[in-house]
Amino acid sequence: MLAVITGASAGIGAAFARRLGARGFDLLLVARREDRLRALAEEIAALYHVRADTLRVDLACDEGVLKLAEYLRSTPDLGILVNNAGFGVVGYFFESDIAGQNRMHRLHVLATMTLTHAALENLLPKARQGTGVINVSSVAAFQASPQTVSYHATKAWMNAFTQGLAAELAGRNSPVTVQALCPGFTLSEFHDVLGMDRSRIPRSLWMTPDFVVQESLRGFAQKKLIVIPGWRYKAIAGFLRAMPSPWIRKLSIAAVRRYRRPK
Ligand SMILES: NC(=O)c1ccc[n+]([C@@H]2O[C@H](COP(=O)([O-])OP(=O)(O)OC[C@H]3O[C@@H](n4cnc5c(N)ncnc54)[C@H](OP(=O)(O)O)[C@@H]3O)[C@@H](O)[C@H]2O)c1
Repeated sequence: MLAVITGASAGIGAAFARRLGARGFDLLLVARREDRLRALAEEIAALYHVRADTLRVDLACDEGVLKLAEYLRSTPDLGILVNNAGFGVVGYFFESDIAGQNRMHRLHVLATMTLTHAALENLLPKARQGTGVINVSSVAAFQASPQTVSYHATKAWMNAFTQGLAAELAGRNSPVTVQALCPGFTLSEFHDVLGMDRSRIPRSLWMTPDFVVQESLRGFAQKKLIVIPGWRYKAIAGFLRAMPSPWIRKLSIAAVRRYRRPK
């Protein structure tokens, strides 16, 4: 079977590529930095004797999304799609560059929606066990926050979208699985792109991409809809879901003051 992974040139996406390659999946690795994708594809193909291809596309653009969607619809051996490509921006929404906000919504929301639709069109009629879609969301989905308004909002959309899909699939008794993976702080290039100082976050809160991916794939095998890697983040998400929203709002304002670089 084939696994298609977006944002495979770094971090969590690259860890998905390595883990799925080790399990014998052929791979299509997708991102904009082709040199990175090629190096990873060569490494995985040599290690695990699987086919590993690359596709250089910008998934914040219609053209890139439609190209990959066409591939997902028509490739005969599709098994898993991982919608992982993403980035964060920090700063007050009302002061931000609207083009950046727009790109984030295109990547997290429109690309995820279009690519999932194409993958399910392919996977549903075949109704094979072990197939499905993993949407890489975030613990940010459980809370709104100042200075990362759109990031939290797009990840909350990802969770709601995936939960709705799960209900549709369950209604059809489909073996096809969907998952919203909700990591907390994970060591990748994400915080470099964001421009955030990692040292402001307590060490105990950081996870490795490989740990996050192991938890995701374990959850996928168990058909878990929402996967939150790490006991600390399970506790944080449980707390956030249980607390009244005015309290959470106050808490997130305080956390932003403490941990985020002032603008
Ligand atoms: N790291 C964390 O703490 C954390 C926590 C929760 C959730 N997440 C989520 O995890 C996912 C992966 O992030 P990461 O931590 O692995 O970050 P990362 O190391 O920065 O990787 C992001 C990946 O997304 C790709 N990408 C970004 N914009 C793209 C575009 N327009 N078109 C195609 N590919 C694009 C990047 O590749 P190119 O630059 O080569 O295109 C890269 O491969 C994201 O959705 C993020 O929101 C991360």
